[in-house]
Amino acid sequence: MSQVLVTGANGQLGREIKKLRNHYPQIYHFTDVDELDITDGDALKKHLTEHPVEFIINCAAYTNVDGAESEPGEAMKLNRDALVNFRECMKELPEARIVHISTDYVFKGNIMRPLREHDPADPQSVYGKTKREGEKVLEDHPGALIIRTSWLYSVFGRNFVKSMINRMDQREELRIVYDQVGTPTYAEDLARAVMKIIADVDSGVSAFVPGIFHYSNEGVCSWYDLAMEICMMNNCRGKVIPIETADYPLPAVRPVYSVLNKARIKKTYHVEVPYWRQSLEICIRSLL
Ligand SMILES: NC(=O)c1ccc[n+]([C@@H]2O[C@H](COP(=O)([O-])OP(=O)(O)OC[C@H]3O[C@@H](n4cnc5c(N)ncnc54)[C@H](OP(=O)(O)O)[C@@H]3O)[C@@H](O)[C@H]2O)c1
Repeated sequence: MSQVLVTGANGQLGREIKKLRNHYPQIYHFTDVDELDITDGDALKKHLTEHPVEFIINCAAYTNVDGAESEPGEAMKLNRDALVNFRECMKELPEARIVHISTDYVFKGNIMRPLREHDPADPQSVYGKTKREGEKVLEDHPGALIIRTSWLYSVFGRNFVKSMINRMDQREELRIVYDQVGTPTYAEDLARAVMKIIADVDSGVSAFVPGIFHYSNEGVCSWYDLAMEICMMNNCRGKVIPIETADYPLPAVRPVYSVLNKARIKKTYHVEVPYWRQSLEICIRSLL
């Protein structure tokens, strides 16, 4: 049976994969920075020599979008340099495949239609730039599948959905931007998609197709719409006020529009892409 290494396994996506592991036949090995620091090339090499795998799912990343503006070196170390380490190690594992996760923040956000994989990347933030540099390390590797996702949330970790629920409980008046448009992604749906791809490739149901793919939930909304939906699903009595990005300046520039077109991943790997409101409801129900 194929072995799968999951790095950054204590993060949102890593924990969703862990939650689902018993539904898949592959043997999963979960590591986070304490057991395996992916920025340490020697440690990664040692780990993969002692525990060779057929698949790697890299869930580790520097994900503090605003923090990256003042820590570009740290962000680059994790979001780009660590991928050079993976690429180096994969020379010794020629059959191995890596599934790496990237972001909609590689786009500038000035194309007002769902974005395809070949649309020009033009990140405006340090986080986006480091993630794009990471993509470049792997994008021509025949064993690398890069999945760009957006607005990830989960029952685990820190994210917009959980933060809204907490703040609504305290009946805060919430001022949320309505002029940034994208699609939320329930990390459980993304985890399921990644694991289906691996299981199907492993069993020969799907051929392995490398390259960049987009995956978010289906549909479109603004952060304000998302906050309103969370509020309604929670019967909250607080008030959500729509504001413009200019009224809530943050260190990192976000794309104005970053809806991802999922046609390629659906056609190639036949993964399910649930509608964002349905997935949000499932997540909120499991949080209550
Ligand atoms: N969150 C989003 O909204 C979003 C949107 C689009 C794309 N993405 C991408 O989706 C992927 C998964 O995101 P996520 O939200 O699940 O991330 P996350 O919750 O921040 O998890 C990342 C995990 O990596 C660990 N880590 C940090 N440094 C490490 C190192 N040197 N070696 C090994 N592990 C390390 C972190 O540990 P510590 O917590 O101890 O640092 C954390 O457990 C990332 O590639 C991210 O860029 C995320």
